Amino acid sequence: MLQVEHLHAYYDQSHILHGLNFEIQAGEVLALLGRNGAGRSTTLKAIMGMVRAEGSIRYRGKQLLGLPSFKIAQAGIAYVPENREIFAELSVEQNLRLGQKLGISKQTPWQLEEMYALFPILLERRHTKAGVLSGGEQQMLSLSRSLLGNPDLLLIDEPTEGLAPKVIDVLRDFFIKIKQRGIAILLVEQKLNLALQVADRFLIMGHGQAVFEGEQQALLANDIIRQEWLEVG
Ligand SMILES: Nc1ncnc2c1ncn2[C@@H]1O[C@H](COP(=O)(O)OP(=O)(O)O)[C@@H](O)[C@H]1O
Ligand SMILES: [Mg+2]
Repeated sequence: MLQVEHLHAYYDQSHILHGLNFEIQAGEVLALLGRNGAGRSTTLKAIMGMVRAEGSIRYRGKQLLGLPSFKIAQAGIAYVPENREIFAELSVEQNLRLGQKLGISKQTPWQLEEMYALFPILLERRHTKAGVLSGGEQQMLSLSRSLLGNPDLLLIDEPTEGLAPKVIDVLRDFFIKIKQRGIAILLVEQKLNLALQVADRFLIMGHGQAVFEGEQQALLANDIIRQEWLEVG
């Protein structure tokens, strides 16, 4: 579904991605792992057309490189950035309705009620200003809002950073549920343990390149790769 080939990315004069190659199949969850500064966030931004990039990024056969971000979103890719980007002054429900409006039309669009079923706390707090939600609730809101746009592929950047273990479990269950609905996910995650519970395949980056790509068994068997390229803990 998504094919990234020879991807290079730059911030002004800094050359950050150095010929990255990987693929995501429809409905697959690919965990993108690596140490801080490895280039994982930059990879997501490059797919969304938010950094200067060269190479090829094809989605359902269509070249995304060079397209503006809104066209890439319209093609069916949603991006949940690290900082969550909710509208702090709007209520939970107003944030969700905006997600619906920005979506691409589909035969079986997600409904607000389904989001509330996935995250009951959002139903409880639907008239609360989004800015006063806890970090975990904001993450749930951000994920729900993206899903209401009916993407086929979700790019999610470190959703569990700084969250309590209980909240992380809720997010894990959410990832598993949307995966069961056939949505593909490119998940940037620091916690190997969580990635192991939701991902089909693993891509590890170091210094702007892929240093490992494979399934769980291969990753767990490879102590050297894990020790050299992943954060401890
Ligand atoms: N806006 C920016 N301007 C310049 N350099 C940046 C910018 N954002 C990230 N970088 C640099 O790009 C490299 C990769 O960063 P990033 O993609 O955020 O890594 P990761 O998400 O894996 O921690 C790092 O060396 C970082 O300092
Ligand atoms: Mg990052």
